[in-house]
Amino acid sequence: MIKKKMTRFDLQQMKEKGEKAVWMTAYDFVTAQLAERAGMDMLLVGDSLGMAVYGYPGTVPVTIEQSLYHTEAVRRGAPNTFVIGDMPFGSYHGSVADAVRNAVRYYKTCNVDCIKLEGGKRAAGIIRAISDNGMLVMGHVGLTPQSTAALGGFKAQGRTAESALAVIEDAQAVCDAGAFAMLVEAVPPEVTRMIARELPIPVYGIGAGVDCDGQVMIVSDILGIFQAFTPKFVKKYAELGAEMLKVFEAYITDVRTGAFPAAEHTYSMVEGELQKLAALRKKPGKKVKRS
Ligand code: KIV
Repeated sequence: MIKKKMTRFDLQQMKEKGEKAVWMTAYDFVTAQLAERAGMDMLLVGDSLGMAVYGYPGTVPVTIEQSLYHTEAVRRGAPNTFVIGDMPFGSYHGSVADAVRNAVRYYKTCNVDCIKLEGGKRAAGIIRAISDNGMLVMGHVGLTPQSTAALGGFKAQGRTAESALAVIEDAQAVCDAGAFAMLVEAVPPEVTRMIARELPIPVYGIGAGVDCDGQVMIVSDILGIFQAFTPKFVKKYAELGAEMLKVFEAYITDVRTGAFPAAEHTYSMVEGELQKLAALRKKPGKKVKRS
């Protein structure tokens, strides 16, 4: 049975019924295919690909071309899943017109269902302009990894009354600017709960507690592949990194010892052809042509 793709209205209804939306990041075709088969509600082609795929120390170096390239692959793998394009640092930081033009690229090239961008009050004008041009925007407040320089690192936000108020005001600004949903990252559950209860739009969380309208996780974290560090909010559902290491070591050993490839991994010649080849090779003056 072909899965029906979610729309913003389905996501809104889920919030109203108290049903949790489940999503994760994906950066490639195969992962997207498997996620769609598993029944994931949404897929985010996050700029976390900078760390998870490209090995950068953060998300800042990711370019719009890299992001579009991976978003296209994910869309091909998950044609019936709500796909979120994640605008990277620099793609919406110049003029509002540039931000709108870049958002359009995600729709045109990757057929996304929405774009996500970071920032609260400071991003309100951009959210408004992109929404007014008929595109869907998901906001992102709390810890915004593209601004770790300003935040002083990957630090939880909203842990003091003043900081919590700033996150709440940011969330309100994102909602007022026309975002259809938002992500709250690395914020105490009490603060996220206020945001999720007070705002009419779906409020999703990562490291923001259970009282959101759904959760997102980074795929390489839940699979246990990402090696550099594990944020506090990650639940690893497997240790695929350790499994992959075992596979690579076993393959190296097999090739070096001649255990691979075995007979079952090779092609057989058509019966009688080996003898014919031997005869051909014996004929004087007949050179085997190289193609
Ligand atoms: O880029 C990303 O993967 C994100 C996560 C915080 C979900 O925005």
